[in-house]
Amino acid sequence: MNIDSNIKEKIVLALDVEKIEEAKELVSELAPYTGTFKVGLQLFMGYGLEVVNYILSKNANFFLDVKLHDIPNTVKKASENIVLNGANFFNIHCTGGLEMMKAAREGADSMAAKLNKKPPVILGVTMLTSISQDVLDNQFEINKNVSDFAIKLAHLAKEAGLDGVVASPMEVETIKKELGADFKVLCPGIRPKWSLVDDQKRIATPSATIKRGADYIVLGRAVTKAENRIEAMEKIYEEIKEELCLQH
Ligand code: C5P
Repeated sequence: MNIDSNIKEKIVLALDVEKIEEAKELVSELAPYTGTFKVGLQLFMGYGLEVVNYILSKNANFFLDVKLHDIPNTVKKASENIVLNGANFFNIHCTGGLEMMKAAREGADSMAAKLNKKPPVILGVTMLTSISQDVLDNQFEINKNVSDFAIKLAHLAKEAGLDGVVASPMEVETIKKELGADFKVLCPGIRPKWSLVDDQKRIATPSATIKRGADYIVLGRAVTKAENRIEAMEKIYEEIKEELCLQH
């Protein structure tokens, strides 16, 4: 298949697997189709940075998804080391506040400059999808609508100099409208029509999510648990090309 580089750049594959061998297998099989591989807490806590060099050796980006949330100085130092260790993307909780987010930007950018590298893409996590209105009302006693609060946090993230936020496909258009087209949006909860929904609630297809303006889509089980992963990826590429009327 002819790989469209505009699509590839948008594809983030979640390496949510138990064993390092499985992660390496996914990277080596899917690197031709994947702009960025995302290493989350499960793999990172199990194996640290072991998989990173493997990802980087395939000319793919490395996204460290560990959602930092600490005092500004700690986050600044952690951000320096995240960049030192080769991450091109990482994320932090917006609820850590403006100063913490600015500290992440500062730490990451100063290390990137020292290494003569492009500054990483730092994405803010506004509200975890597991935090419902009920949690906001009754546990945190924050008297705000959950979506309005997420938008408020996205504004803070922009003010702090973050590149964008993580959001559901349903929120992309609002975020782009409110924060501007350049403010990046990465969407998990992606399910092609033919795949299982699993435990995701607010889902959309890859093409619909990109049509709404998402800069990155996170593919997880729809591809990693497919019987034929390459075939699944190729179907996703075809669907995006068709729906977005890109040239074959
Ligand atoms: O397998 P699936 O496509 O559901 O994987 C989604 C990925 O996106 C996982 O790595 C998950 O941690 C991440 N994610 C999510 N929902 C969020 C934020 C991140 O599913 N709100």
